Amino acid sequence: MKDLKNKTIVLTGALGLIGKKLTNYLAINNARVILLDIKSLNEFRKIKEFKLIKNRIFYFKCDVTKLESLKKVLPKMLKISKKIDVLINNAALNDSLERRPNPSLSKFENFPVKYWNQSIKINLNSLFLCSQVFGKEMIKYKQGSIINIASTYGIVGPDQKIYIDKNSKNIFFKNPAYPTSKGAVISFTKYLAAYWGNKGIRVNSISPGGIENNQQKIFIKNYSSKTLLGRMAKVEDLFGTIKLLSSNESSYITGSNIVVDGGWTTI
Ligand SMILES: NC(=O)c1ccc[n+]([C@@H]2O[C@H](COP(=O)([O-])OP(=O)(O)OC[C@H]3O[C@@H](n4cnc5c(N)ncnc54)[C@H](O)[C@@H]3O)[C@@H](O)[C@H]2O)c1
Repeated sequence: MKDLKNKTIVLTGALGLIGKKLTNYLAINNARVILLDIKSLNEFRKIKEFKLIKNRIFYFKCDVTKLESLKKVLPKMLKISKKIDVLINNAALNDSLERRPNPSLSKFENFPVKYWNQSIKINLNSLFLCSQVFGKEMIKYKQGSIINIASTYGIVGPDQKIYIDKNSKNIFFKNPAYPTSKGAVISFTKYLAAYWGNKGIRVNSISPGGIENNQQKIFIKNYSSKTLLGRMAKVEDLFGTIKLLSSNESSYITGSNIVVDGGWTTI
């Protein structure tokens, strides 16, 4: 596969677990990467790996759930590149186990509507608004690829048993808002692929499985045993699919949900 030379890629949630490594990968593959995240410019500056590729990455602090923030940042982005080739909607609120949230609060029976609304807002309003604002730029050139990061939990319900400790007690419950929002990411992808197919815009989603990230050993074991490949994902496992969908070599792929989960959803 050719590299991503001459591609301008907008990546939301760029300073998170996946975003940071993905930025490096895309820039090393010669893309120009415009990073959006709610974190401060200082947070961005602290990331040592970015120093090596700084001529191909551009950071804007932006709340991607707010139309006015996106409108403010857009003209600055267009000064860097008139054309946006790829939009990766990656920002989300992911209530992961490693952040050790309160298990009793994440239980469905107790889950506060406040957290439900927050999750839906970050995971879905951002998807809708970024696609609308940046997609309108893409249709001017009748070409573009939108990649929405979904999750296996958009396909299957969370098996709460993987979150138990050695005494069979849940140390965490995957809350109801995250899977609901990820299912909607996949539906929205199909909506937009159908809507903008005639404008030359391809819209696809990727559903990654859980990424290993210093979680408790018992969880890694529980999770791994549910995959066909016997392990959790690494961020790098997503790169090939993202490169394919960013490049012209996927020119006939639209409306798809590509599952990168080591076989988790197969059985
Ligand atoms: N980590 C996993 O195991 C996993 C598995 C499947 C899918 N995913 C999906 O992959 C994507 C990235 O996940 P991650 O693990 O890197 O998450 P992360 O929490 O590490 O990073 C998310 C980033 O989004 C940013 N963000 C949050 N709200 C924002 C807002 N309003 N405006 C701008 N930026 C905002 C955060 O500051 C953060 O840098 C998410 O869509 C997640 O649901 C992750």
